[in-house]
Amino acid sequence: MNSVELFKRSLKVSPGGVQSPVRAFKSVGGQPIFFKEAKGAHLRSVEGAEFIDFCQSFGPLILGHRDPEVAQAVESMMHKAWTFGACEPYSLELAEYIVDKISHVDSVRFVNSGTEAVMSALRVARAATGRNKILKFEGCYHGHVDSLLVKAGSGLAGEAASDSAGVSAQVASETLIAPLGDSQKVEDIFQSHGSEIAAIIVEPLPANFGLLKQKTEFLHFLRQISSQHGTLLIFDEVISGFRIAFGGMAEALSIDPDLVTYGKVMGGGFPVGCYGGKQEYMSLVAPLGPVYQAGTLSGNPVGMVAGLATLKKVYEQNIIPQLNARTEQLVGAIRDLITEFAIPMKLSCQGSLMWFHNSAKEDPESLADIPSNHSENFYNFFHQCVEEGIYLAPSAYEVGFMSWAHDEKIMVETILRYRKIFQALKGK
Ligand SMILES: Cc1ncc(COP(=O)(O)O)c(C=O)c1O
Repeated sequence: MNSVELFKRSLKVSPGGVQSPVRAFKSVGGQPIFFKEAKGAHLRSVEGAEFIDFCQSFGPLILGHRDPEVAQAVESMMHKAWTFGACEPYSLELAEYIVDKISHVDSVRFVNSGTEAVMSALRVARAATGRNKILKFEGCYHGHVDSLLVKAGSGLAGEAASDSAGVSAQVASETLIAPLGDSQKVEDIFQSHGSEIAAIIVEPLPANFGLLKQKTEFLHFLRQISSQHGTLLIFDEVISGFRIAFGGMAEALSIDPDLVTYGKVMGGGFPVGCYGGKQEYMSLVAPLGPVYQAGTLSGNPVGMVAGLATLKKVYEQNIIPQLNARTEQLVGAIRDLITEFAIPMKLSCQGSLMWFHNSAKEDPESLADIPSNHSENFYNFFHQCVEEGIYLAPSAYEVGFMSWAHDEKIMVETILRYRKIFQALKGK
């Protein structure tokens, strides 16, 4: 069966035919491609077409698909147990590995997704401070937590409004919202609500509405203003953790958040997330403290060994700076092609993340920097990439991910394919 036929069947049994909205290709048009297998940097569709994959499952696969060392850990675990629902050494080993290497994390609790990690961290912050409000930023995504599915409301002091049907106005009213990078607005919000704000939550490298690189001073300012008001600072490092630096942006910028959330890379491609941070806050979590949080499959041994094998390889082979250098090299070559073919497009990059955009700024910092025709322009580009065997995430607002499996040979092939893509776009 081909992708078109499979999608037709899917539409009958799942909303929009998908298990997560972006997969439906709604923002790029056309039919979603169904994939049957993946290895390293490559995907294979059910039709047998091969793609160099820059979506990499939206970030978990820093080592690429089915890395041999991760595969070995998973296969060996499959012969021991799939889940215990009891104490086991596998989550302990992963927790020790993280706590040992990340100085701002004294203790971690494993969950099954980034969303769960964020939801739990917010609960801890509310319990720690006895306050209800959370300050988030427009242009950051933290999973589908009710209170964070919000947009700017009409009030001046950062009041948020629901951004999804099913999120009540009452829940949305507990969230305050500010534009990224806007210290003045954050100060104004603290002026009005300072004593009510339990936490500031921020993606220190926002990578869900494109790549919105923040000024270091802004992130330091968030640390300072939250400390000043007895508010906790939560760094959501679900994308940036173990990718930008082993200890994420917090380590890269020497900022000490109170709580952090991780996911993606730390589960090696399995459904794993965690929240963690300073002992005084993590000791509030049940059974030690009064904050209830639990999970039937939390600390699932298959995910734990996949995560540990991934983190060990990343750390012990010092992969991050090498991967970042490779990404810079590839991005440089693609930028040269953009210039050669005079394509009205820019490519932002940080670490092993990259994002095509058409902002007037080299590196947009907030939603206001993204032109309104950004998505329209992406449509042709995306489909031309598919044509030439490059798979990008099917949305103009999703970033691209490099993996360790994107080696020299694949980079050369990628550049050749981009040459054809830009040539074809120029001819249209
Ligand atoms: C920064 C950030 N936080 C939280 C999440 C939610 O993670 P999950 O999709 O695993 O629930 C995501 C997912 O993309 C994310 O990028």
